[in-house]
Amino acid sequence: MEPPAFHPPSCDEAVISTNDDASYCKRSAVKLGYWKDDFLGYFVRSPERKAPEINRGYFARVKGIEMCIEKFFKKTGDKCQIINLGCGFDTLYWRLREMGHMITNFVELDFPTVTARKCYQIKRNKILLEKIHVEDGEVRLSPTDLHSSNYHIVGVDLRNIDEVALKLQQSEIDFTVPTIFLAECVLVYIESQNCHNLLKWFGSNFKSAVFVNYEQVNMNDRFGEVMLNNLRQRGCSLAGVESCISLDTQISRFLNCSWHGARAWDMVQIYNSIPAPERSRVERIEMLDEAELLTQLFQHYCISVAWIGELFQDIEITVEKRLSSLNID
Ligand SMILES: C[S@@+](CC[C@H](N)C(=O)[O-])C[C@H]1O[C@@H](n2cnc3c(N)ncnc32)[C@H](O)[C@@H]1O
Repeated sequence: MEPPAFHPPSCDEAVISTNDDASYCKRSAVKLGYWKDDFLGYFVRSPERKAPEINRGYFARVKGIEMCIEKFFKKTGDKCQIINLGCGFDTLYWRLREMGHMITNFVELDFPTVTARKCYQIKRNKILLEKIHVEDGEVRLSPTDLHSSNYHIVGVDLRNIDEVALKLQQSEIDFTVPTIFLAECVLVYIESQNCHNLLKWFGSNFKSAVFVNYEQVNMNDRFGEVMLNNLRQRGCSLAGVESCISLDTQISRFLNCSWHGARAWDMVQIYNSIPAPERSRVERIEMLDEAELLTQLFQHYCISVAWIGELFQDIEITVEKRLSSLNID
């Protein structure tokens, strides 16, 4: 039996399909041992092996976000909420559970087409299901949404704030609990005005929050132009690209929406902040065909962090100083 089909407008279909690309790339890297993820294989099967630069890029992306989350856990312990925007088939909830974390609440949002597929896999898989904490044994289900006591996944268009507010309410989000928002390659697909409204709504409703955003940067140079053209040729409108021009535009996107502060680092800096033994380990997995290509890729992605309230304002990363920008020789 297949999960129920939902038919989004064709302009959204290309955006939705970016989840398949991301999931296949992550699975390729996991299979080679870049990082451990015992759960991704339940959502994505038999990937083709991706180029070493792609695998290393995805490693930096996943590791960079994980490092941010670890920093926040040091402040909040498990008494926090995570809201994963445009979650795709991300397995963070299960990876955290495996590490022994039981956070107050974890909510995932994506288009109904994507959440229906994710719900379907969760429902039919005992290992995924048993990690979902259920106090009274009850999991509430619809074709696109799943609610348990501390894990929720809901189908919603992030451009529709009323719907987002309703879905967060159904997911028992508490505006007073410290909250980590995650968006991994998501905001770039959302029209600037809609994104502004969404960030503003979050900023004015949550008392203590941090936003971790991974996406493109330096999009107005030649390499950026080629990246954008490739995506556009696949029918993917990059409606929010104007915030991806520089680290400054990434930061000001949040400050213009009344977030209290923001910082941003390109992936060269993030990669160099990963502990040296971990970098050495992954650098031994595969030889890079084109070291320069990886550097360029890293220069065109970034992680920005924004905050509301005081809890998270001292976030910093420690970038190791090196002669070459990347340890890829
Ligand atoms: C590149 S994928 C990334 C998936 C996941 N965050 C990851 O990194 O593995 C982008 C995701 O954002 C979702 N997305 C983009 N625009 C959205 C919107 N307006 N409403 C809901 N989801 C959206 C897509 O459906 C897709 O799953």
